[in-house]
Amino acid sequence: MSINNAEDNTTIEKIPSHVAIIMDGNGRWASQKGLPRNQGHEAGTKNLRRVIKCFAKYKIKYLTLYAFSTENWLRPETEVNMLFDLLAQSIVEETPKLHSDGVQIRHIGRLDSIPKELGKSIEESIELTKSNQTMILTIAFNYGGRTEIIDAIKNIVKEKIDPDNINEGTFSNYLYDKKLPDPDLIIRTAGEMRISNFLIWQSAYSEYYSSPVLWPDFDDIEIKNALYSYSNRHRKYGTI
Ligand code: FPP
Repeated sequence: MSINNAEDNTTIEKIPSHVAIIMDGNGRWASQKGLPRNQGHEAGTKNLRRVIKCFAKYKIKYLTLYAFSTENWLRPETEVNMLFDLLAQSIVEETPKLHSDGVQIRHIGRLDSIPKELGKSIEESIELTKSNQTMILTIAFNYGGRTEIIDAIKNIVKEKIDPDNINEGTFSNYLYDKKLPDPDLIIRTAGEMRISNFLIWQSAYSEYYSSPVLWPDFDDIEIKNALYSYSNRHRKYGTI
C-alpha cells in the first residue's frame, strides 16, 4: 500500500504491517527541562495517544509498545511504582476511547509479579476489546525477551513435546502471543541503538530505525521519517 502525504507530497510506498517501539528518553526529556523524572514519564504517557492516532492514520495493523522491561525492576522503587500507576491510569482513561476506535488491546510479559489490580485492569481491557480489528495494540509490560524464551522452553518441556517436532514454527507457538506477527520495523527513540531484550526471537529479520527525538517529543513528523526510511529498505531475508 502506498500513502501520499498531502502536506509535503512525500509518498511512502511500503507500509509495515507491524511496528514495535522502544520508548526511550523520558528521563532525559525531564532533565533537559530541569524537571523531576516523573514528569518525563507523565509527558511520555501523554504522548501515547498522539502516536497511536498517527500510526492508525497510516493504517498500521500491529503496534507494539515496550512500556516496562523485566530489567526496569532495578530502578528505584518510587519510579517503578510510578510507572505502574501511570499504566493503571492510562488503561482506565484510554480503554473506552481505544475500544470505540476499534483498537484491540493485548499484553505480552509476565502478569504474575505486577500489582493484582493492575493485572486485573489489563485483563479487563483485553477482554473488552478482543473482537476489535482496526489495530492490534500490544503493551509489553513486565516483558523481557530472554524471559519469554525461557517461559516458552518451560512449557515445551512441561508438555513433553518430542524434540524431533520442535522447529521455528512450533517454538513460536509457545511465545507470549503466538498470533503476534514478527515486527517489520522496530523504532527506538532518544538516539539509542540497542535492542534491550525486546522481542529478541521475533526481531530476527526486523528493520531498525533509531530516532534522535526523545519519546515525549516523538511526533507525526518523526513517525513519517521512520516510515519513509523503512519504505526505502530492501529486505532480503538472507537471499540476494
Ligand atoms: C524510557 O525512558 C521509558 C521507560 C522506562 C518507560 C516507558 C514508559 C512510558 C512511555 C510511560 C507510559 C507507559 C505506559 C504503558 C503507560 P527512560 O526513563 O529510560 O529515559 P532516560 O533513558 O532518558 O532516563
